[in-house]
Amino acid sequence: MAEHTQLIDAINIRTSIRSYDPDPIDDDTARQLDMTIDAVNMLADAHIQLVCDQPAVFADANASGHLNNAANYLAVVGPKDDDGARERAGFYTERVVLAATLRGLGTCWVGGSWDRSEAARHCQLSAGEELYLGVVIGYPERHFDRMAKSYTELAAMRDAHRESKTYEQFTAPMGDEARAAAPDWFKAGVQAAMKAPSAMNRQPIVFSYNPDDDTAAAMIDPNV
Ligand SMILES: Cc1cc2nc3c(=O)[nH]c(=O)nc-3n(C[C@H](O)[C@H](O)[C@H](O)COP(=O)(O)O)c2cc1C
Repeated sequence: MAEHTQLIDAINIRTSIRSYDPDPIDDDTARQLDMTIDAVNMLADAHIQLVCDQPAVFADANASGHLNNAANYLAVVGPKDDDGARERAGFYTERVVLAATLRGLGTCWVGGSWDRSEAARHCQLSAGEELYLGVVIGYPERHFDRMAKSYTELAAMRDAHRESKTYEQFTAPMGDEARAAAPDWFKAGVQAAMKAPSAMNRQPIVFSYNPDDDTAAAMIDPNV
């Protein structure tokens, strides 16, 4: 992984991890994560928190086998009833996810597979704030084996692990000619979004490129 140290590199090797080793996140790694979270909270005006060693939050999901050894999470907290803040928190929490991926940690966003009220008991929620979502975080099962894999191997595992809407579906508002003429930065951005997590892998988003002002637009996919 030595030459793949940029956040953008993590996109190619991230998958949701549902089985974890029981080891706690070591202090040094937790400190580094907290530093990333502090910076991100300032940029996002959010209140994301790393909460460690609270397996009761995932008791049902661990018992059913949907998750294994889930015990730590990022609590994605921000202002109540504020769609802009919620969108920013999602974007910036994914930055934390990518930073954690580079450090060999596994993650999985959770909307359903946790006990939200139990999770809320272990994080700070000021008046006017709400707990939007969580992200399980920890060492993936057999993480030493995983860390021994090359970047290319991990990227191949990611490529094979799930279905994705096609590039054409992701750019459904555009015709073939517009697609071919779109600049490389737009194509690379769409390809990165195709690898992003989404609830139940629904990928509910489409993009278009506007050559008149060289901008991209993202919209909720009306077909999902
Ligand atoms: C908002 C959101 C909520 C999610 N909730 C859950 C969940 O409750 N349980 C779960 O196992 N996975 C959950 N996921 C993970 C998705 O199932 C996963 O991202 C999707 O299947 C794509 O797979 P990948 O992340 O491995 O690329 C969630 C993802 C997102 C973005």
